[in-house]
Amino acid sequence: MDQIPRPTIFEFHGVFMSKYFTENWDNVQSFVARPDDILIATYPKAGTTWVSYILDLLHFEQVCPERMASIPIHERVPFLEISAPFHTKGKDLADQLPTTPRLIKTHLPIQFVPKSFLEQNCRIIYVARNAKDSAVSYFHFGRMNCIQPDPVDWSTFLQDFKEGKTVFGSWYDHVTGWWEKKKSYSNIHYMFYEDLAEDTGREIDQLCSFIGLSPPAEKKERIATGVKFENMKQDKMANYSTVKVMDHKVSPFMRKGKVGDWKNHFTVAQNEEFDEDYKKKMKNPTLKFRTEI
Ligand code: A3P
Repeated sequence: MDQIPRPTIFEFHGVFMSKYFTENWDNVQSFVARPDDILIATYPKAGTTWVSYILDLLHFEQVCPERMASIPIHERVPFLEISAPFHTKGKDLADQLPTTPRLIKTHLPIQFVPKSFLEQNCRIIYVARNAKDSAVSYFHFGRMNCIQPDPVDWSTFLQDFKEGKTVFGSWYDHVTGWWEKKKSYSNIHYMFYEDLAEDTGREIDQLCSFIGLSPPAEKKERIATGVKFENMKQDKMANYSTVKVMDHKVSPFMRKGKVGDWKNHFTVAQNEEFDEDYKKKMKNPTLKFRTEI
């Protein structure tokens, strides 16, 4: 792990990115989607793995049980734009996926999403998480993952987060850009980490209705239990323990899985400044987040 240099961030078409997500750019942009592909889009740390796992189980749990025991989630649901050491390029993994539908993950802001997904009218599931918990989770993720820029320390990272100087750019622009896309593109299911934490069964029902599945109640209950934080944390196929660039001793990928952990990180002053800045940046009153449940 020591040999991998931490990347720097740079402005790329107006968004801060790192080379590990821009080096395969032309191939990613020309990705050929199929109408039944399902794209899972998020700003980093919004619960991508959680929702990916739910969707994977809904589709393939019974069709392909060996998949559950032997293929890590990041191979079942490739990360489209990744091109980093110790990773097969996400675009190549997506091209080679043998499943129907293909489940594909992206952190790209809406303006960078390969056109083919929209032209094919693919189903897109966008997962959003409140800014404060996203910032905390992203900070710890940067500490443990050497393909992320060094977050330095919490107050430095928080400032960078507010200024959009994090990989995949501004959280504010990301969540708002995807929210506004719903007006012109109806095949988006926009969901929230906090809702999933509050009532996983209800959110699974909504996902099923969006993707056109009607599994029996026992299956949905089994999945809701299987994807509880404690269960996914123990599951080597879900907890990223097989990924070489991550040091789980620094901070585990499955870290806390809570709504409101920001309260253990923000000082009173940081919280007040954050709220002030938030009001200026979040102009769309219809997009509302909960920072506690
Ligand atoms: P924390 O760092 O706050 O614990 P992503 O998959 O988008 O990278 O998001 C990772 C975040 O989702 C981490 O948040 C992780 O613990 C949390 N997470 C993953 N699986 C979860 C689950 N089953 N229940 C609750 N939170 C989960």
